[in-house]
Amino acid sequence: MTPELIEALRTGPAAAEIARLVGQGIAETDLLATITSLRRRFDPDIAAAIVETALLRIRATAKFGDPSQMLFDRSGLEQATTSAVARHRAAQFDVGDPPLIVDLGCGIGGDAVEFTGHADVVGVDREDGRVRLAAHNCRVAGGPNAFHGIVGDSMTLAPFRASAVFADPARRSGGRRLRGLASYLPPVEPLIERWRPYTQAMAIKVAPGIEDHEIPAGASVEWVSLDGSLREAVLWIGTGAARRRATALPSGASVAGPEPDGIKITPIDRYLHEPDDAVIRAGLVRRVAADIDASMIDPAIAYLTSPRPVDHPLVTSHRVDDVMRFNLKDLRRRLADLDVGAVTIKKRGSPITPEELRPRLRLRGSRRATLFLTRTADGPLVAIGLD
Ligand SMILES: C[S@@+](CC[C@H](N)C(=O)[O-])C[C@H]1O[C@@H](n2cnc3c(N)ncnc32)[C@H](O)[C@@H]1O
Repeated sequence: MTPELIEALRTGPAAAEIARLVGQGIAETDLLATITSLRRRFDPDIAAAIVETALLRIRATAKFGDPSQMLFDRSGLEQATTSAVARHRAAQFDVGDPPLIVDLGCGIGGDAVEFTGHADVVGVDREDGRVRLAAHNCRVAGGPNAFHGIVGDSMTLAPFRASAVFADPARRSGGRRLRGLASYLPPVEPLIERWRPYTQAMAIKVAPGIEDHEIPAGASVEWVSLDGSLREAVLWIGTGAARRRATALPSGASVAGPEPDGIKITPIDRYLHEPDDAVIRAGLVRRVAADIDASMIDPAIAYLTSPRPVDHPLVTSHRVDDVMRFNLKDLRRRLADLDVGAVTIKKRGSPITPEELRPRLRLRGSRRATLFLTRTADGPLVAIGLD
């Protein structure tokens, strides 16, 4: 975005028009008519940018608490970190000497906005429009500290001293997903080598599917979920953090490795517990089983069980009313006996999909239930929990 366009959208009649369109909830189908009508009062570029900004601001409410003054470009918003996740990360930087955080590949400033709550920030991006948007967004939605933008390449810019360096390399290029840390833009290991000598701590956001063999030597990994769904993994370097960690937001509850030995394997008891996705991806299911005094139902299945419900932010507990070997006819009969007419279907380790199973259950009752399709050494099982 050019400086002139940012200036035009920031204040005055264009800003008022964006607020009006956001308020009335502009639909993708109304775009042409809206732009045509705006062109009577604004230059064509500004009319188009007003509509685009209104659309993106509506979309941005899913990522940012209050995007009402923020500006975006479409792909910059798609790549931006959700504020709850960025806030959690920013709070972990021990801002020392000099009190400065470098944000490499700052994009539209999703992370930088939160970093400015802790220290001055230098944001680097090779796209000048992004640096301007990050600067604007830090001004309207950031903390009390300053944001300084540099348009440049994180791999050729001369590194400088900072208390922490964060990088969020691009994982898409030309609509294509880039797989593996070596294909990110910029690639992760050379980025670490270049900036590590200049800082006490580094954090690098990577895909949550990172493979164990990709974890750089000396790095710890934190897998982060928000509202139960896995969002990202972060490589931490120089912070002394545990090698593997899972954090669930918004609670901030965290668990760290190593995994304990000797977790019991038992049949499904009165309660099944589903560990948070971050726990599963971090490979810390046994750690959580020990913490909540539960057993596993199978060494390879991420369901835990115990005779009592558990109130713990890293698991969701479900009461179990029946457990049976999976057989379609028997399940149909049992659900009819229980007067079940609607089901939520969850599965772990079962090849059957909810879409396949649901119509074949021919449900007619009035109660709701949750079905857990799984397997143990005894074969395929289904547990039923009445809602
Ligand atoms: C995933 S986005 C960053 C999103 C940002 N953390 C946020 O929350 O808004 C990655 C950014 O890195 C930039 N980028 C890619 N390669 C770069 C390089 N070699 N040097 C500097 N920036 C780069 C892209 O232009 C893009 O804006």
